[in-house]
Amino acid sequence: MLTKPANTWDSAASLYQECKIMDRIRIIGGTPLSGTIRISGAKNAALPLMTCGLLTDERLVLSNVAKLADLQTMAELLAQHGIAVEPTGTDGRSLSLGGAITNTEAPYDIVSKMRASILVLGALLARVGNARVSLPGGCNIGTRPVDLHLKGLEAMGAIIKLDAGYINATAPKGLHGANIVFPFVSVGATENLLMAASLAHGTTTLKNAAREPEISDLVKCLIAMGAKIEGIGSDTITIEGVPALHGAHHAILPDRIETGTYACAAAITGGDIFLENARADDLGAVIHALRDAGVIITEADNGFSVKRKNGLHGIDIVTEPFPGFPTDMQAQFMALMSVAEGASMVTETIFENRFMHVPELNRMGARINAHGSSAIIRGVSHLSGAQVMATDLRASVSLVLAGLAAQGETIISRVYHLDRGYESVEQKLAACGANIERLA
Ligand code: UD1
Repeated sequence: MLTKPANTWDSAASLYQECKIMDRIRIIGGTPLSGTIRISGAKNAALPLMTCGLLTDERLVLSNVAKLADLQTMAELLAQHGIAVEPTGTDGRSLSLGGAITNTEAPYDIVSKMRASILVLGALLARVGNARVSLPGGCNIGTRPVDLHLKGLEAMGAIIKLDAGYINATAPKGLHGANIVFPFVSVGATENLLMAASLAHGTTTLKNAAREPEISDLVKCLIAMGAKIEGIGSDTITIEGVPALHGAHHAILPDRIETGTYACAAAITGGDIFLENARADDLGAVIHALRDAGVIITEADNGFSVKRKNGLHGIDIVTEPFPGFPTDMQAQFMALMSVAEGASMVTETIFENRFMHVPELNRMGARINAHGSSAIIRGVSHLSGAQVMATDLRASVSLVLAGLAAQGETIISRVYHLDRGYESVEQKLAACGANIERLA
């Protein structure tokens, strides 16, 4: 049974509103969206950044933190290890992390809820020399093993044994530097090893490292904590381990996937939305694809606007590690291509089972044929509202996009997936004119 210090994040009722398992979302489609949406802090940056709380006894303050279920789960996991996560400041978007590590086990009931829990492994090992972390297991969008994380830590001197569904890892003499060449790009493995290497003895080189903006955000925070890291933003990162890290303040970068999702919302409804706080530089491939499809994007100092006046054209995309087209935008783009003129092809190269939104979009009148890692989308003149089911985070939001464009009523069930990664999605869309509500 999980126990939490009384002052953990969820005791601050204002920070996160829990979604009930039976919640559904109802949308009456057809309204072109117009207005401004403020982009929240990135979920996929916040998760490793919160894990940095394990790397120091001093206080780490993170600002621009989104109110998301996955971050609540990470706060619970850190509390389990002894790190209290408390709201701080006056904006309701800052967290203070601090405390001594009292427990090195990451239990199944939390890790099975959120795969990113594996990120505590490297930090715990580097800091206290041992960790017991439940294996994340399968996941809706593919098998998603953690072999690269484990091999990298072994190369740094960790002894790893798998037993009864747990990773038992020890580093009795501490971790040491190593030359690690990833056989393919992994965001999570790059993050885990970056954190571990920051406190290892000697120098670690990560080759074929992930270059996602969230990795650069993590590197910036580690440097602010006293880490010695070179190669930020490149595929070769060199980390010279230091004996200890200290506290710091870090502002989390804006969420590029939330940004891209609302850009697709403007495009699919023929609307005009300003995405405040959005960074076009982090979304190059998506902006390029949207422009090719006929969407008008105008950059400004504090964000960019997305507008569509005329019809959309079908275009082909292939998902790739950054700076390629992100897999986390694939489902949303497929919803958009469902109503484009002509045919489009979407090829998914990162995850092997990431087309679960296809049958649901087809229930709404889309004409999509998925075969292996590719899907052909033949554009239709309109989608029709239907009852559909969310299957994972990005699949859920693709159904929201389809519902916004569809004729009639769409009811989406299992929206708890959505709350893992989209803050106040109904409020943000309703403020731009969408007819959307949550049915509790
Ligand atoms: C992160 C993101 C997720 C995004 C994904 C790819 C977070 C919290 N999640 O997930 O939203 O979709 O990057 O951009 O940031 N793999 C292995 N062995 C490993 C590790 C990965 O085979 O040890 C495989 C995976 O199964 C997948 C591919 O490598 O096929 C890429 O996965 P990875 O980049 O590690 O994704 P995550 O870090 O899990």
